[in-house]
Amino acid sequence: MTDLHLPLDRGAGRLAAQIAAGFRAAVRAGRLTAGTRLPSSRDLARDLEVSRGVVVAAYEQLTAEGFLIARRGDGTRIAPLARPDEPAATSPAADPARPALPSCDLPPDPGLPYDLWPGRPDLSAFPRERWVAATRAALRTLPSDELTYPDPGGVRPLRTELAGYLGRVRAAVADPGRVVIMNGVAHGLSALIRVLQADGHRVLAVEDPTSSRQLPMLETSGIRLARVPVDADGVDVAALARSNARAVLVTPAHQYPTGVVLSPSRRAELIAWARDVGGVILEDDYDAEFRYDREPVGCLQGVDPDRVVLLGSVSKSLAPALRLGWAVAPAAIATRLREHRGHTDLGAPVIEQYALAEFLRTGGYDRHLRTMRRRYRSRRDVLADALATYLPGATVRGVSAGIHLFVELPPGTDETAVLDRAARSGVSAAGAREMWSAERAADAPPALVLGYARIAESRLVKAAQLLGKAITEETDG
Ligand SMILES: Cc1ncc(COP(=O)(O)O)c(C=O)c1O
Repeated sequence: MTDLHLPLDRGAGRLAAQIAAGFRAAVRAGRLTAGTRLPSSRDLARDLEVSRGVVVAAYEQLTAEGFLIARRGDGTRIAPLARPDEPAATSPAADPARPALPSCDLPPDPGLPYDLWPGRPDLSAFPRERWVAATRAALRTLPSDELTYPDPGGVRPLRTELAGYLGRVRAAVADPGRVVIMNGVAHGLSALIRVLQADGHRVLAVEDPTSSRQLPMLETSGIRLARVPVDADGVDVAALARSNARAVLVTPAHQYPTGVVLSPSRRAELIAWARDVGGVILEDDYDAEFRYDREPVGCLQGVDPDRVVLLGSVSKSLAPALRLGWAVAPAAIATRLREHRGHTDLGAPVIEQYALAEFLRTGGYDRHLRTMRRRYRSRRDVLADALATYLPGATVRGVSAGIHLFVELPPGTDETAVLDRAARSGVSAAGAREMWSAERAADAPPALVLGYARIAESRLVKAAQLLGKAITEETDG
């Protein structure tokens, strides 16, 4: 069955209540629909690594509430009475047992001294003065009429600047007519899935493992996810071809989370697949500006701009807080995305769009990227070296790029227990387990995903030392 995605916080206790809350949320979000058969209590207990009694208690609670029906010989199914359109009374205050949603991008232990939670750039380096200057310059020249509702696809000067930048830096085939401004990659993806669904797509292929932050958002769309394994060459195109999907979401420049780059032969196979099935490739270019060992590989969109939609944002290069990103799409899809914005949210904030256009035009963006590349490269190297010293049994995977490291732990290490121990010594990090599908999680190697962008070199060494200690203590029992 589809990935149930029931994240558990083992430190928070009440595991049966957490499982029940996870199922309620899935039904309310429409991810589990009436009639869906649930795994047996034995299977689910094994997948979640809890005792069978915990799952039985959760199922009993949900049956009592009317969410589930259990019939002898027919297993346990979602009840027809459980309506997906019920209001989702799921604020943490209303339901303390609700497991933390990874989509919130919040570490489970905020405020720990060594914050290696992945996915965030060095926010202290945000170029405040230059951003203020760009905003001031934009406001000085902006005609008052521009302060009305904008072109929902984005203001022309920003689309023009981005087309030039993406052509130059990412080898994209981009003209202002193909560029649509979105509120980040996540927003671009949500909108694209709506467009695909309207065109009859029922399945979206997604890499396995993938960003657990994106999973709830993808699942909320109602599209069925077909998870496709990733190996050292990137996504397995033969496995993709065996799925029913005609659309796939990939991270070719720097696979998230494993850090591998889609190999040249796989790039060719992927394009051939898209041409064969009349399919669409959604290219998440989330951190492609940061490649340290060589020039970044050009984007896939530049190879086949009629089959690939390029998605990017300033979330890793400047700050997620700006919520500014883009899609570069074939003209027909760009028009639909623009219409989608026109029908759903009337477009992105205008002053920020002009400020980013100014920042790009005057070279501020390039300058900032040059500074950050040097900083991140040094932090990555220091952390990788320190891990080799303090975690000798661990292996850093992937290329020298981005703002996170994928670190495989010695076989048999209990990832969750290591994270718990690390948190107790002040280190916050993410485990890879929830990034895999339920089918592959059991065989996946234990691994950590470490964001190194926000911590100075000397403190990264200390963090590696503490992680090494957490692993030794865990392995020694
Ligand atoms: C792989 C990946 N792509 C995209 C995003 C979302 O990025 P944005 O802030 O542009 O919506 C994330 C979030 O961290 C991510 O991990």
